[in-house]
Amino acid sequence: MKKLTVEQLSIKDKKVLLRVDFNVPLDDKQQVANDTRIRESLPTIEYILQRGGTLIIASHLGNPEGMINPAMSLLPVAKRLTEILKRKVLFAPDCVGAEVKKIVQALNTGDILLLENTRFHPEEKRNDLDFAKELASFADLYVNDAFGTSHRAHASVAGVALHFDKPACGFLMVKEIELLEAVLKRPQRPFLSILGGAKVSTKIGGIRRLLKLVDQLIIGGGMCFTFYKAKGYEIGKSLCEKAFLDEAMVLLNNPKIYLPVDVLVAKELRKGSPTKCVEACNIPADHYGVDIGEKTRKDIAQMVSGVKTIVWNGPMGIFEIDEFTKGTAHVARSVADATTKGVVSIVGGGDTIAALSKYGLRDEVTHVSTGGGATMQFLEGKKLPGIEALKDQIILKPIIAGNWKMNMDTAESRFLVQKLLGLVGDVKDREIIIIPPFTSLSYVGEIIQNSRLRLGAQNMHWVRRGAYTGEVSGVFLKQLGCEYVIIGHSERRHIMAETDEVINKKLKIALDLGLIAILCIGETEEEKQRDKTEEVISRQLSQGLRGIESEIHKIILAYEPVWAIGTGKTATPEQVAKVHRFIRSQLRKNTAILYGGSVKPENVDVLMAQKDINGVLVGGASLKPESFARIVKFLTY
Ligand code: 13P
Repeated sequence: MKKLTVEQLSIKDKKVLLRVDFNVPLDDKQQVANDTRIRESLPTIEYILQRGGTLIIASHLGNPEGMINPAMSLLPVAKRLTEILKRKVLFAPDCVGAEVKKIVQALNTGDILLLENTRFHPEEKRNDLDFAKELASFADLYVNDAFGTSHRAHASVAGVALHFDKPACGFLMVKEIELLEAVLKRPQRPFLSILGGAKVSTKIGGIRRLLKLVDQLIIGGGMCFTFYKAKGYEIGKSLCEKAFLDEAMVLLNNPKIYLPVDVLVAKELRKGSPTKCVEACNIPADHYGVDIGEKTRKDIAQMVSGVKTIVWNGPMGIFEIDEFTKGTAHVARSVADATTKGVVSIVGGGDTIAALSKYGLRDEVTHVSTGGGATMQFLEGKKLPGIEALKDQIILKPIIAGNWKMNMDTAESRFLVQKLLGLVGDVKDREIIIIPPFTSLSYVGEIIQNSRLRLGAQNMHWVRRGAYTGEVSGVFLKQLGCEYVIIGHSERRHIMAETDEVINKKLKIALDLGLIAILCIGETEEEKQRDKTEEVISRQLSQGLRGIESEIHKIILAYEPVWAIGTGKTATPEQVAKVHRFIRSQLRKNTAILYGGSVKPENVDVLMAQKDINGVLVGGASLKPESFARIVKFLTY
């Protein structure tokens, strides 16, 4: 799976839908108060214009809860963008609908159109596929530069990408991903992370993941009071998330964690309120903790000066109030000073960036990430829907999969796989997948592990581990080296009564585990007779893929008409081509679709010659080494 970038698109004379994160603050005169996010996307905007494209820009601003709210209009952003680019930016009063369609149709090459706030429609947050389709219909190409929104599975960042063959990343998206990936994979050590902000709940995943990566983790801001409480300290009126006390208690055993040793406290959370510095264990009952104390500031400065990488997310106190700002200002200054000495510093999160700007230090760190939530989720190792939707399953070679079903005991498996290794082990221009029964997976996996052959499983459970007698977990399959797993084979649907709902759950866990699912769909003889093929397939697709529509491209489809399986009755190439064309019309154009059902050396070449067939899923004929080898090589003699 790869990500395309805007540089790989042919843009000339094309309309480009560009999703950006123009969620900028507006002042009380409805003017842009800080245009950082607009400027961060300028390289992508200018590149598209220089290459002769026409721009249709989409973004959200604030959280209007699916309703039109003039206070969250993007009109001020259109004005600011006009000033920055020194050329006219047109503004559409909505982001979908007949009027917008007309405006889009009237665009000339090189025009720039900014659409109104996508979140004025509830469909945006629901990732509604029709809404996404309408947005997509305006343009020939789609580029996503909205890293800050990529942790949201919303229509304009996730669903929309499915309607383009080559959805691509903009330069900002690439920059953000590459920097974070580098920090995750090859951090310069010592590696320090400073986390602040109000809530443990939003950062708990990040804390767990970062503890595995960093050499030291400082927890400041409102979060530290939950930890003090877990230690048994009096925290006065400070923030505490009771639901996280147990977790905090466990984390406290980790020697990498540093908690502030002293705290600034105040009786009231307002400007001008008197403050005093107390030891962390001595917070008065009638006071709030509002910032880190002096000794802590010194400790942090010392820690910062001794490291090579810093990731900072979240202020140290209520920095917006002048009396409570010293701790955050001090950390910002220390991080900026360390950066001038060659430390790699990555700062993320809206509040932290606002703090940096307040102290005039925004340009003095290595990278200011435009994403707060997105950065944290990326660091947690979570998949971000906006980024996942840009990954492409590029079908580079025909896929030939051999499903051995409940055949081949251990000795037979050994014989078959060794034969296959000799016959097709060096074939480079096919993706060959061997799918033995569970009992042979371990052995077959070992034999093929250094070859070109890939390993797949015939089924798996939708839970990772537990009391499910007789079931097999995808986690175990991964451990055995499986890369693929068949889900929803018709024999499971019809003999074992497996439902679309169960199949959906299995697909979700497969995606989660990074297993490539081969989703089988197809109609029975009776359904074919009643001319229900397309209806059945539509149902299997929509119910099977519910909630994971934006990741369809990471699944392989296999059309297996039930009436053709093991019966010797192959569907004619024309029949197969028609159904494959229909399936493709429901999915992104480059999703791999295999055909299965009495595939043999005698018919594989005609089948593979059809436009929408990207490979075959072979049952009976995969049990004989010579016939499978002939299928792999498309040999009919
Ligand atoms: P046959 O090739 O035996 O018809 O089986 C097809 C199949 O079900 C593969 O999964």
